[in-house]
This record gives sequence, C-alpha cells and structure tokens, in this order.
Amino acid sequence: YVIGVDLGTSAVKVLLLDGSGKVAAEASRDYPLFHEHSGWSEQRPDDWVNGTVEALRELAERSGVSPDEIEGLSFSGQMHGLVLLDAAGNPVRNAILWNDTRTTAECREIESLVGKDRLLTITRNPALEGFTLPKILWVRKHEPEVFARAVSFLLPKDYLRYRLTGALHMDYSDAAGTLLLDVANKRWSSDVLEAVSLPASFAPPLVESQALTGTLLPERAAAAGLNADTKVFAGGADNACGAIGSGILQEGLTMCSIGTSGVILSYEATSGNDFRGKVHFFNHGKENAFYAMGVTLAAGYSLSWFKQTFAKGESFDELLQGVGDVKPGAKGLLFTPYLVGERTPHADSVIRGSFIGIDGSHERVHFARAVMEGITFSLNESVDMFRQAGKTVDTIISIGGGASNPVWLQMQADIFNAEVVSLENEQGPGLGAAMLAAYGCGWFDSLEACAELFVKRASVYKPDPAAVDAYGGLFRIYQDVYASTRALN
Ligand code: XUL
Repeated sequence: YVIGVDLGTSAVKVLLLDGSGKVAAEASRDYPLFHEHSGWSEQRPDDWVNGTVEALRELAERSGVSPDEIEGLSFSGQMHGLVLLDAAGNPVRNAILWNDTRTTAECREIESLVGKDRLLTITRNPALEGFTLPKILWVRKHEPEVFARAVSFLLPKDYLRYRLTGALHMDYSDAAGTLLLDVANKRWSSDVLEAVSLPASFAPPLVESQALTGTLLPERAAAAGLNADTKVFAGGADNACGAIGSGILQEGLTMCSIGTSGVILSYEATSGNDFRGKVHFFNHGKENAFYAMGVTLAAGYSLSWFKQTFAKGESFDELLQGVGDVKPGAKGLLFTPYLVGERTPHADSVIRGSFIGIDGSHERVHFARAVMEGITFSLNESVDMFRQAGKTVDTIISIGGGASNPVWLQMQADIFNAEVVSLENEQGPGLGAAMLAAYGCGWFDSLEACAELFVKRASVYKPDPAAVDAYGGLFRIYQDVYASTRALN
C-alpha cells in the first residue's frame, strides 16, 4: 500500500491505495482560512500538520490495513503559499496563501529590481500576486521584526513533510511557483536572489518529486498510526500531481481541472516553448518534463458563490437541475467569472465579473447555466492561447467538480471544441501523490507504467458541431466584455 496526502486550501485529504491503484480508504480534515483584511488569505501551518496526522490515523484505523503493509507516502500541495521559518525551524507567522492578493506593489518592485524580461527568461513566469517571492518581500517591508527572525522558507506541503520527517526539502514542481527558480536549468536563480537581496541560504535544498526524503519521526508515526520506517517521498505541486493522477505524461495531452480555481494544463516535453508569461510554465512532477498552464481564479468558486447567494441551503444537484434542458448560450445570458479578479489571460486582480443580457423571462436555471458557461469560457481563453502557440489540443482529461456533472462535461467538449474524457477513479492530485510514492518505492519503472495501471478512462464527450458553432460566436462576445467593463472597477 501507499498513501497520497493532498494538502488543499480548505482541507487535507488522505488516500490509501493498494498495489493495483484501488482506493482502500480515504479520510480528510478541514482547517480554517483567515481573511483578516480584504484580499488577505492565511492559514496556520500547524493546522496542516495536526489535520494530516489526525486524518492519517483515521485512515489507518478505517482501512484495517496493518501499518507493516504501508510502504510509503507522498504529497500534493496547494502551490505558492509562504511559510517563513526561524533558525529553530518554527514558522515566524501564519502562512500567506496562493489566493492572497496583497502584494501588487511587491510585484512591481520585483519587476524593477530583476527586470521584467530577465524575470520571464529565468523563471518563465511574470510577477503575480499569488506567487511566493512577492509575499517574502511583503513581510520584509511590512513586518520587519518578524522578517528579521526568518532564515529560510518553505511551501505548504514542504512544511508538512518537514514536520513529519524533520528534513527540509522542496521539489522542482512546487519551487517553480516561487519566482526564484531557474525553471529550465532546475536550480535556484542566484541572479534573482541577488537582485532582491536574499541570501542563497534562504532557499531550501531542491529534489525530484519521487525522491526519498526520509522516514517518519517516531512520535509523528505513533500519532498517525503508521510505522516509523514508512518511506516519505517529496511529492509535488497540486497541479503537477493532478496532471500525474490524470495521466498527463506525454505531449498532446491536456487537463481541465475545475476546483475552487480552474486550470487548463498542457504537457511540455522540453522547456523549449516560451509563452513569455502569457500562461504559467512550471516543472512537472515527472523528471525533466514541464507543463504550461492557464488559471481561472474563480471557477468552482463562482458556482459556490452563486449557490450560497441565490440557492442557500440547496445542494449542487438541486441548483443544477434543468441546466441540461437550457440550450447553449443560456438564452442570451452571459457571465464573466471575475469575482476575485482574473489570472489568465488578464493577470488583473482588480477586474470584477458580470451578468450581461438579462431578460424578463430568465429564471434561475438560466443564470446557473450562464455561470457554468462563463467559467468554461474563461478556461477556453487558455485553450485558445495554447492553440495560437501552435499546440494541438484535441483530447482534454477533465477532473475536479467540473467533471462530476455530465452536462458540464458536454459543455466543455462544445466550448473547447475537443474530446473531453472523464476518469473512473477521479482522485486528481491525491492519486498523483500516491503514484509518486508508488514510483518512489520502485513498484514501477516509470510514472507512465504506473499510470497505465492506476489511471482509468471512463467516458468520452465529443463536441457537437451545432453547439461548437453557437459557442464560437458567444466566446468572442465574452472576450470583449473584459475590456468593456475594466473601467467599472
Ligand atoms: C496555481 C494556483 C492554484 C493553487 C491551488 O498557480 O495558484 O491552482 O495551486 O492550490
């Protein structure tokens, strides 16, 4: 058996997988998010550790599997979050998360210190509020006494692993989201570190995602109900692990993941394609591979907001009842999902969303469908960008909340104009984390061989030409809304 730990933004989920990739047991624990000011988003790093240990204990108890049979575990982590450590290895403050937008001034500062073009060439990404380096500079500027105690930093799942094993590491796929990594050459960028006046010692040792980083500390193992010799492998960024868990391990495959945020991710065999920051470009959890990715900030979040505001107390199933009977285009109603700004393609934390084309005859079901279409249009901006860069996007593996509804899966096929594939064992990042452990344990020669056994396709949704046509026209109107509504905010 192996365990995948998926350290998310609202909860940690742990999965126990047997040698054939079958889920033997699952458990999870929630933890709070703190929004002390508008745009701020923080968590207590030790909540992750305690939640994970509790969930692991429940997993071990529930499954009835002997700890002797559990060989290894690995991680998938929410990306970009900053954990600053003091010399004793304790966090000096709460973690600042990926969805925190307080760092616009620091992004501009990084561009001027490093040079916008040089930053893009080295890190392959622009300075965005969500990334880690702007957060480090924010703490240095606004909380100098706190920063004075910091000697190094980690990302969320790396802190969790450090607390479980006592060893400090960061893997390439997660390090790529810090803005400090030379992505193509897989090393910390001394140029960027020097330009922003951070010592090289600030950055932790880099490892591959399948690297063995140690075993469990005896007291943690006892609390988690596991053996202390359980092998702990580095793990990867949640999007890299989502890609592994969906079998995105070769050129030509694309993933659509709709969770709180939404992602269109495309495999890149080399670092050769340079999108000049229009989409993110990160190291994969597969050795020496990469992926390009566009992000919709409020994907599932837009639908949750809609439910919370207009259908409080109802389930998603109730909210979405009848959306399949409404024709593509939601009877002339158009939604843009910029509830918290947008990443791709606008990199704009100020823009806000809209409903356009409201008619007296519209009912809630039209609004619900328009929300789903608007989220999918936003993701299609990334698909569009990949195609413009010369990539073929004809097969999209769909995971997350967006894959749990057949109407939405067909909508994705029609809006993306590509075949959309759903998976049988839809565990996304947690599965990818467990696959890294299985590969690290030597069960397979490659992640591809592991995916052959662990990742099973369920259904294929083919684009319907009439719907593709209707959506093509609407997508162009959707794209115009951004520029026309910018001045509102
Ligand atoms: C990616 C990003 C999000 C987080 C969510 O750049 O910010 O997808 O990884 O955990």
